[in-house]
Amino acid sequence: MKVSVIGAGNVGAKAVYYIAEKNIADIVMVDVVDGLAGSKAMDFLHAAPLRGYEVRIRGTTDFGEIEGSDVVVITAGIARKPGMDRMDLLKTNVGIAAQAAREIAFRAPNAVVIVVTNPLDVISMVVLRETGFALRKVVGMAGVLDSTRFRWFIAEKLGVWPGDVQAMVLGGHGDEMVPLTRYTSVGGIPLDQLLDAPGIEALVKRTRTGGVEIVSLLKTGSAFYAPGASVAKMVEAVIKDERRLFPASAYLRGEYGFRDIYLGVPVVMGRNGVERIVELPLTDGERKSLNDSAEAVRKGLAELSTVMGEKA
Ligand code: APR
Repeated sequence: MKVSVIGAGNVGAKAVYYIAEKNIADIVMVDVVDGLAGSKAMDFLHAAPLRGYEVRIRGTTDFGEIEGSDVVVITAGIARKPGMDRMDLLKTNVGIAAQAAREIAFRAPNAVVIVVTNPLDVISMVVLRETGFALRKVVGMAGVLDSTRFRWFIAEKLGVWPGDVQAMVLGGHGDEMVPLTRYTSVGGIPLDQLLDAPGIEALVKRTRTGGVEIVSLLKTGSAFYAPGASVAKMVEAVIKDERRLFPASAYLRGEYGFRDIYLGVPVVMGRNGVERIVELPLTDGERKSLNDSAEAVRKGLAELSTVMGEKA
């Protein structure tokens, strides 16, 4: 099995590390910066005798090497620099993702594509359009990350093993994410049996701002360990056809009442990508939060139309 990761920056390289550590598949890293992917691949391989991985890892600037990949992850993009407005950033990242998508369509037509580049829900749409792939083959990584943060904050608060906490976070990847506390449990016990409402609300708040909190501490970039681990989890689900149920940004065709939009929903991930979208009954409050979240994504899509219009 072969996984390619486009963009060997912080998130891409960390994803490769986790994929290698679990011997999930052979890996190709592609980055435009000469020597960046190659040097990281070499460095990873030097650790193979110590860490026990047997997979092949290559780093290159040549998209030709993604040929025949089973999964391709797109992390390529640029971060916002001082003086750059949102639309400039969007325009650049749309261009980078569109180029990657065309290469994937040409060289790895059977791949499942996992999109990581932000703004996630909008870039996923760009990749879907540019690859022309089936809807289930293009999926965005956001919910696994948002929910693992929520899981960690709950585990920390309750002093329990993090793996025993299960959580579901829906909606767009941003401040408008919708942590579903009713569908969150610890060892099968609903969260509200273990924490009072203000306690839960504080953790929800922390989850919403988890990414921002890291940016403000790190200053030179954004989170990459948990995002890399989240990517590896999704890659593994596809490569091993595990049928894992977790939230991801999927293209909706009426599910949850939305159409023609990428939004975080519970999915079952397997060999074909999104094998199925799981619809949950929502309360009025949850429904309103999800609507607000979708509205924010729609605004992003309107910006995308402007950017695409300018390009034409
Ligand atoms: N082709 C391949 N690689 C590219 C291209 C391209 N056209 N353009 C940029 N890159 C590479 C950069 O050279 C860089 O190494 O993408 C990499 C991005 O890495 P970082 O700048 O370290 O960013 P990172 O923190 O990994 O985040 C990547 O994931 O979580 C999101 O918001 C985040 O959109 C960002 C993405």
